[in-house]
Amino acid sequence: MIHIKTPKEIEGIKKSCKLLAELFLKLEEEGIIKEGVSTKEVDRFVESFIKERGARPAFLGYMGYPAATCVSLNDEVVHGIPTEKRKIKKGDVIKIDSGINLDGFISDAARTYYVGDNPPNLIKNLMASVRAAFYNGISEAKDGKKLSDISHAIEETAKKYGVSVIKELGGHGVGLRLHEDPFVPNYGPPGRGPVLKAGMVLAIEPMFSAGSGAIYTKKDGWTIATRDGAFAAHYENTILITKDGVEILTEL
Ligand code: MF3
Ligand code: CO
Repeated sequence: MIHIKTPKEIEGIKKSCKLLAELFLKLEEEGIIKEGVSTKEVDRFVESFIKERGARPAFLGYMGYPAATCVSLNDEVVHGIPTEKRKIKKGDVIKIDSGINLDGFISDAARTYYVGDNPPNLIKNLMASVRAAFYNGISEAKDGKKLSDISHAIEETAKKYGVSVIKELGGHGVGLRLHEDPFVPNYGPPGRGPVLKAGMVLAIEPMFSAGSGAIYTKKDGWTIATRDGAFAAHYENTILITKDGVEILTEL
């Protein structure tokens, strides 16, 4: 069942999302993501930021997940567990995914960064592709359209950039729980699935790879990586469907 959020819930979700947007800005401004920093240090920074503002990390404890963030490097797509042992290196493609529970209202967003000054064209293209797919996807989203209109626009963007959709993964409803209905595939024909309605809150999250798009789960039981070792990228925001379009809630 897809829950249409009440005005009061939307107010709470917006606050949670704004805090998450501020967290990403802070990560960038403070230059946290740099050579030599462990992925656990990134996680500690995020966890303190969230707790200092009276909120809780939404990922911590979710289905037993042990951290506030997912930090996934290079061929890793999502759900990389932060660890002291993994240090960020120059040339890394790093994905930071986090969520906040503020007074019971949940936000979810992810960004991909390149460590260094000049990403090679393949990485530049891959990073641009997930962003473009997010924006093209949500440009299809408004009251009265169908869910798979978003999916289709995302897949078309992947094709345009010559990258592969990671088909097993996708977006989801969010707001009162981290994962709510509906699942939002990042591919497929348009005009299918539930009708979009004002008051739906969705996490839209294109995940693409520069290789085949096939994935596997690493031995830790969480980290999802590309089978062929190709670089992967991820871009995610929590959005609100409105009468005449969408609002991106996890952007400032
Ligand atoms: N943004 C991630 C997702 O939608 C959230 C993962 S939470 C975790 O899959 F606890 F599983 F890490
Ligand atoms: Co998500």
